[in-house]
Amino acid sequence: TPPERIRNFCIIAHIDHGKSTLADRMLQETGVVDQRHARAQYLDRMDIERERGITIKSQAVRMPWAVQGEAGDSTYILNMIDTPGHVDFTYEVSRSLAAGEGAVLLVDAAQGIEAQTLANLYLAMENDLTIIPVLNKIDLPAAQPEKYAEELAGLIGCDPAEVLQVSGKTGVGVPALLDTIVELVPQPVGDPDAPARAMIFDSVYDTYRGVVTYVRVVDGELSPRERITMMSTRATHELLEIGVISPEPVPSKGLGVGEVGYLITGVKDVRQSKVGDTVTGERNQAAQALGGYKEPRPMVFSGLYPIDGSDYPILRDALDRLKLNDAALVYEPETSAALGFGFRVGFLGMLHLEIVRERLEREFDLDLISTLPNVEYDVVLDDGSTFEVTNPSEFPSGRVASITEPIVRATILAPSEFIGAIMELCQNRRGTLRGMDYLSPERVEMRYTLPLAEIVFDFFDALKSRTRGYASLDYEPDGSQEADLVKVDILLQGDTVDAFSAIVHRDKAYAYGVQMATKLKELIPRQQFEVPVQAAIGSRVIARETIRAIRKDVLAKCYGGDISRKRKLLEKQKEGKKRMKMVGSVEVPQEAFIAALSQD
Ligand code: GTP
Repeated sequence: TPPERIRNFCIIAHIDHGKSTLADRMLQETGVVDQRHARAQYLDRMDIERERGITIKSQAVRMPWAVQGEAGDSTYILNMIDTPGHVDFTYEVSRSLAAGEGAVLLVDAAQGIEAQTLANLYLAMENDLTIIPVLNKIDLPAAQPEKYAEELAGLIGCDPAEVLQVSGKTGVGVPALLDTIVELVPQPVGDPDAPARAMIFDSVYDTYRGVVTYVRVVDGELSPRERITMMSTRATHELLEIGVISPEPVPSKGLGVGEVGYLITGVKDVRQSKVGDTVTGERNQAAQALGGYKEPRPMVFSGLYPIDGSDYPILRDALDRLKLNDAALVYEPETSAALGFGFRVGFLGMLHLEIVRERLEREFDLDLISTLPNVEYDVVLDDGSTFEVTNPSEFPSGRVASITEPIVRATILAPSEFIGAIMELCQNRRGTLRGMDYLSPERVEMRYTLPLAEIVFDFFDALKSRTRGYASLDYEPDGSQEADLVKVDILLQGDTVDAFSAIVHRDKAYAYGVQMATKLKELIPRQQFEVPVQAAIGSRVIARETIRAIRKDVLAKCYGGDISRKRKLLEKQKEGKKRMKMVGSVEVPQEAFIAALSQD
């Protein structure tokens, strides 16, 4: 297809604003799937995606669309590039945006724009995409198209009348939207005679085919059977298959300038075909890769341990399997005196962590304990030695010269009545207000710099509860800064429990210590002797609770009493022992670890 007949676009939308429904409707309108066979939500493939209602992996679908012109009908090829819908995957979003020239900014006509949409809109603007503002769900009785058209128009600087109104559900306005895409989105530009350059915007592991890589060709052409080179690693592969998705994969004779499709090389690991990388021909190599390539970087770390220690090999194999489809997942073996053998796993963010954990438990039938998630700290000691700490229990000993923590740039959108509540929350979380804008008299956008560590746990929940669910949040990494952080240890009878160590701000060390000591006092059963539970910074104890000893006469009652009852008690004790972990001489039930590490 010649570039002048190609339009590449993506849809930017907040979760639940109806992106999948609209995408499905477009597939029907263009005849790519017929009404009868339309499977619900074609673009959301994975089970977890469907259940959680989020789109994790982006894909691309090719749709023909005939536009009536003066010289009769002309058929255009529309490539719809799906973008992932969550903050953890900002880099993938940026690459799928970079694969096209236009973006449909889709906003629920009953909700208005949300922080995530706004953040992605800014990304699209940075990529110089043509923005098509669209209000969705106009069939809803609660829709307020005039109000939100005004808001959208103000945001992108157009006339409210230019904001399209559609319903993905009923199909109203969808053909007009397709026409508008053809009319307004610029055609792709590239040099057909230059050495091939294609940008990878997604890479998915398929059990049967190996890795399926989604690309947008910028220059030249890629053809089946030729050898290609991945420019970031210089690795070469044979192009076993190349084609387009419409809506199933269809092999083609090649992809040229501006085309979007998939390729298969037989590699088995998405790490060999990385998002953002440039594909070129092996023989006729491009001199320069396309810009914007970044290595995925884990931001949040947590220890994952099987509850049943004998599951360790299963956990290891499961992680190896997940890694094939997840270039951002990193892990290394780790041992904890308290929890046994496990892994320290790095994630892009909390959602990524939850998804991985859920898949491990569901697909591999594992029961896991995860330690409190933490970020990565750069620690410099007085003697000049430096450490990258991803596990608090590995915090170096010695006098600390400085500690640096990652920070994020956060965007919060909320009704203006909640400004005070939001400011208070962000202040508590060591945030700095960077700016504030009214999108309309009653809606405000607030921009903050916040330490990542302060938002990984429960920030979003706290924000939601303070704003009765009305606020939305988006954030992206923004470098790092020095902070007054300390490591707090939790000790049972003088022994540190490594799984409970945490790195926290000095002002919050006491609260963390008291909270953990109180929790553990409740969770750990009484022993034959008194057990002090302490929280300490170095050798300085900052909080203390005591688990009192069992009173002797409780056991005494059994002696000489009902023999079977005594046996039962002993049996029960033995049962219980199996689920106990020894910390020094203190028996701690497995459940106590799980409960103490749970985040509520
Ligand atoms: P993610 O995949 O999680 O990003 O969600 P999404 O934006 O793709 O939303 P989805 O298409 O799954 O729609 C979310 C909800 O809104 C579903 O319950 C849809 O049935 C409903 N919905 C989508 N489009 C419309 C519409 O035009 N009108 C009405 N009334 N409901 C809609």
